[in-house]
Amino acid sequence: MIFRLLLFSSILNFSFLFQIICSKKINFEKVYKDGMYASFLKSEFNYTSFLRRADHTAEKYVPFQDTSNDTFFKVGILHKSQLVNYTKIRMEDQLGTLKNKPWMPINEIREEFANCALLKFGSLSMHDFKYDKGMYGWMNIMKFSCAFVNDQFLVFAMAFTRTRFRLKQVILKRQNTHWATSGRSLITRDVQKITEIFTIRFAHFVNEKLEDEFHKHSVSMKNLEANPLHLKNETFEELAVAYGRLRKHIKLSDSRGHTFSTLAFGIKSRIMLTSPTNAPQAVEAISDELSDAPLKVLDTCHKDICTYDYMKNATFNPKTETYTYAKENALIHTVHPRYSLIAYQKSKPYFTFETMKRKTATGLIDVKQNLDAKAKNLWSSLLDQQFTLAIHVHNQELFPFDRFHMTLDRPS
Ligand SMILES: *[C@@H]1O[C@H](CO)[C@@H](O)[C@H](O)[C@H]1NC(C)=O
Ligand SMILES: *[C@@H]1O[C@H](CO)[C@@H](O)[C@H](O)[C@H]1NC(C)=O
Ligand SMILES: *[C@@H]1O[C@H](CO)[C@@H](O)[C@H](O)[C@H]1NC(C)=O
Ligand SMILES: *[C@@H]1O[C@H](CO)[C@@H](O)[C@H](O)[C@H]1NC(C)=O
Ligand SMILES: *[C@@H]1O[C@H](CO)[C@@H](O)[C@H](O)[C@H]1NC(C)=O
Repeated sequence: MIFRLLLFSSILNFSFLFQIICSKKINFEKVYKDGMYASFLKSEFNYTSFLRRADHTAEKYVPFQDTSNDTFFKVGILHKSQLVNYTKIRMEDQLGTLKNKPWMPINEIREEFANCALLKFGSLSMHDFKYDKGMYGWMNIMKFSCAFVNDQFLVFAMAFTRTRFRLKQVILKRQNTHWATSGRSLITRDVQKITEIFTIRFAHFVNEKLEDEFHKHSVSMKNLEANPLHLKNETFEELAVAYGRLRKHIKLSDSRGHTFSTLAFGIKSRIMLTSPTNAPQAVEAISDELSDAPLKVLDTCHKDICTYDYMKNATFNPKTETYTYAKENALIHTVHPRYSLIAYQKSKPYFTFETMKRKTATGLIDVKQNLDAKAKNLWSSLLDQQFTLAIHVHNQELFPFDRFHMTLDRPS
């Protein structure tokens, strides 16, 4: 941390520190009039293009018992001088008291402010899905982004939705003696429908909040830029190659072969835009988030573009019967001398198979499922689709050529 503070001191200009001490009050009003303010928020927190492409019929296919949620949204501005020592930022000034939201990761957000100081633009998103048969399912989504407006003001915004859900119980007929109910196990296609539904709800929530924000400060819609980060087509093309398009949901007939009683993935996606000279510091700041191989790619790239994409084979824990994976990708693309774009995604997903019941002449027997080639394929297509969904939903501005293509299939 000391290292980080020293780093800022050298990057940021101390005269601003003087300014904040003297005036105590910085005039943020002029930021609302800046074309970049609205352009940044629209490109980062307007989910309309995702909503146009999403599969809105998914809601019909998932038998929810109930769902409940909590949400948070905030847009704010920090003056450059406030970032010189980010440990001094009073988080309640920026986020409010949060007394009913103990789950808000205040210290992590503070660390994000510190990352932002190194960047022209930064974006972090997470899709946390967890399902445990017989208990609850959870789907938490968050997005945080920041960018400098006219070199002096850091604009940041964040949106969180947390949802707990239960699926309807399944009624089992057992041995003609009694009826029993049981939790519902999932197939991969169910996971895709459920994440689609909660991502759509997240998108509606954020769109409404953004609309309110623009009204509240009568934000100027003049001078809006379609490409506020000034990225080149070359960069969009590299991203399109590395991350592909939104993928179709797995067909029901393929998905049905394997069922899961527990299934979880937390996908973290990060995009950073820096000057090429600041890129090594930006990579250093996030170095604890990646394993050695992708970190090395980001740290030692001497070409215009270097990429990494790998999923480690499953490790099996026989006690809990859990298969655990690790999947990561990373990309660094440098357009000398203008900017370096760094992107990566990572997850440590896991699952346990459902023990299936099969009826025989003598009664029900347990049938164990194996991690055969088909199960491996299903699992990796699920993860590929979820990784792609996460980056496309939250970073639509990086995929402008994809915007109006319908690539999701209609339900079969
Ligand atoms: C930053 O602020 C903290 C808390 O006020 C203080 O302890 C620390 O010495 C400051 N660091 C620098 C480099 O100013
Ligand atoms: C939260 O729950 C309400 C009531 O069920 C629902 O209308 C809303 O869409 C949900 N919001 C999110 C972000 O899931
Ligand atoms: C979001 O984008 C859509 C389509 O580009 C536009 O119609 C809508 O007004 C935007 N919403 C806000 C709050 O800017
Ligand atoms: C970038 O691509 C878009 C869409 O294909 C095209 O309209 C635009 O002219 C291109 N810009 C440059 C600078 O090549
Ligand atoms: C990972 O799995 C693949 C396919 O099942 C196999 O060919 C490969 O040898 C495995 N790699 C390691 C390091 O175990």
